[in-house]
Amino acid sequence: MCNITTKDEFEKHIKRILITEQEIQEAVIKAGAEISKEYEGKPILLVSILKGSFVFLSDLCRAITLPCEMDFMIAKSYYNSTESSGEVKILMDLEHDISQYHVIIVEDIVDTGQTLSKLVPMLKERNPLSVSVVTLLDKPSRRTAPFNPDKTLFTIPDHFVIGYGLDCSEYYRNLPYIAEYNAEV
Ligand code: IMP
Repeated sequence: MCNITTKDEFEKHIKRILITEQEIQEAVIKAGAEISKEYEGKPILLVSILKGSFVFLSDLCRAITLPCEMDFMIAKSYYNSTESSGEVKILMDLEHDISQYHVIIVEDIVDTGQTLSKLVPMLKERNPLSVSVVTLLDKPSRRTAPFNPDKTLFTIPDHFVIGYGLDCSEYYRNLPYIAEYNAEV
């Protein structure tokens, strides 16, 4: 558990900016416009997987020009890193009965794919009208479970990243950009 108290300690772990604030905003506006076109006339529920996706959700929902509802979920995957199987536990469930909605899962990053490869079938068992996944980031080189998001804003190499909702020990979620984390200082 890192315990960062000063601005210097905070900044020294920010190795380099990978995606700027402007690049994120442009991609979010584009994704919001595409979703608005694809789902016109359909009841949509944006499902944010906490905590990492809260910043992305707050920008994405304002880029969607359709009426939409929002709900939140906390899911955690428990798995042995050498195995491709694992378990996903829902630590906080949705309030909505999703059977009347087209569910759009809003995720910060798809890494191993373990969480969403289990969570999507779990939500489909509740008989929603449809389920799709929009992720801000995708790290396909890290995949240990077969999962592909429907919409990806940025594909990135295998770096541990922070900012725009993504954390390292709960810090850095408030950075307005995506940066590579420097663990070596
Ligand atoms: P999964 O490995 O695809 O199941 O991803 C699970 C979760 O791990 C993501 O939703 C993130 O919260 C977290 N995660 C994966 N890679 C990173 C990263 O580079 N930075 C911060 N969090 C990450």
